[in-house]
Amino acid sequence: MDKELFHPVRIRNMLVPGNLFLAPLAGFTDPAFRQICHRHGASFTYSEMVSAEALARNSEKTKNLMKRAPGESFLGIQIFLPDSSTACRALPALLKAQPSLIDINCGCPVPKVIKSGSGAALMKTPEKIGEIVKAITECTDIPVTVKIRSGWDSSSINYLEAAKYAVEAGASLVAMHPRTRTQGYSGSADWNMLKTLKESITVPVIGSGNLFAPEDAKRMLEETGIDGVMFARGAIGNPFIFERTAELLQSGTCPPPPPVEKRFFTALDHLKMCITDKGEPVACKEMRKHIGSYTKGVRGGAALRNKVVHASTYNEYKKIFKEFLES
Ligand SMILES: Cc1cc2nc3c(=O)[nH]c(=O)nc-3n(C[C@H](O)[C@H](O)[C@H](O)COP(=O)(O)O)c2cc1C
Repeated sequence: MDKELFHPVRIRNMLVPGNLFLAPLAGFTDPAFRQICHRHGASFTYSEMVSAEALARNSEKTKNLMKRAPGESFLGIQIFLPDSSTACRALPALLKAQPSLIDINCGCPVPKVIKSGSGAALMKTPEKIGEIVKAITECTDIPVTVKIRSGWDSSSINYLEAAKYAVEAGASLVAMHPRTRTQGYSGSADWNMLKTLKESITVPVIGSGNLFAPEDAKRMLEETGIDGVMFARGAIGNPFIFERTAELLQSGTCPPPPPVEKRFFTALDHLKMCITDKGEPVACKEMRKHIGSYTKGVRGGAALRNKVVHASTYNEYKKIFKEFLES
């Protein structure tokens, strides 16, 4: 039984070797973080969300968000957009990036995104989700997928309707974060909805929401019957969650979290990849937001984080970690 919980996922004509996905996370899932997660067992990873409007305008900054990490075989590029005409205008630039799949963001709760009719605003007009998927699938064989919420608010739970529009228009996978836009990221995600969704559509369903430990993923797969899980906040500073979950699903035993030395070593590796991609000053600054998670639960972690705030080179980071381990 446990062995069957870890398995490949077919997304249209593409076979992904496992069912442990890294969710799109704005501000986090850049090439360096995706690469680190791949190394530690992520089966599939997504870019940060990309503005389709900016793509249509050929923005250089946006192109950078779609860069593949070295050796990255699968990359889902997620776009946010309000309608099918924006999809058509964005498509030439998007296809140049050669994504493994194109994912439509139907869940972002940020006011600026919502105001433009994108992200979770699409849950208010689910027929538009179908129109966007159709516009893209008519132009390319690359799989098109959607990531939805359960609805806009508790009085408008319409994930089944949104998924139906998407699948009828040709979507090859539906990922769902079963919270409403009003809930944001707080409160508990309602996994029962994942089970209902899985029973209602024929394409693979990937579940997101409250996955902070390997045992959470196992429970979600067992309780809902969905095809795979998508780690989000639970993977930040914790790429080990993928290999530990794979082991749990396959052998029934969960390896313990790695010792602090391995966490620091991985953080430095992560930083090195980020430096290669963005240069040392930017990488050292951006790494600060990951360090809080890499050092979570470490005794004396707060003092270490205070020091890291001032680190602006790789060697400074290394020295801070070394001194901490020696102290
Ligand atoms: C900082 C942050 C950034 C996120 N960015 C995106 C995004 O770009 N696209 C998206 O579809 N979801 C995004 N999400 C939602 C996550 O992918 C995920 O669905 C959500 O966090 C629920 O999972 P969790 O409770 O396990 O964290 C983001 C969440 C967080 C916390």
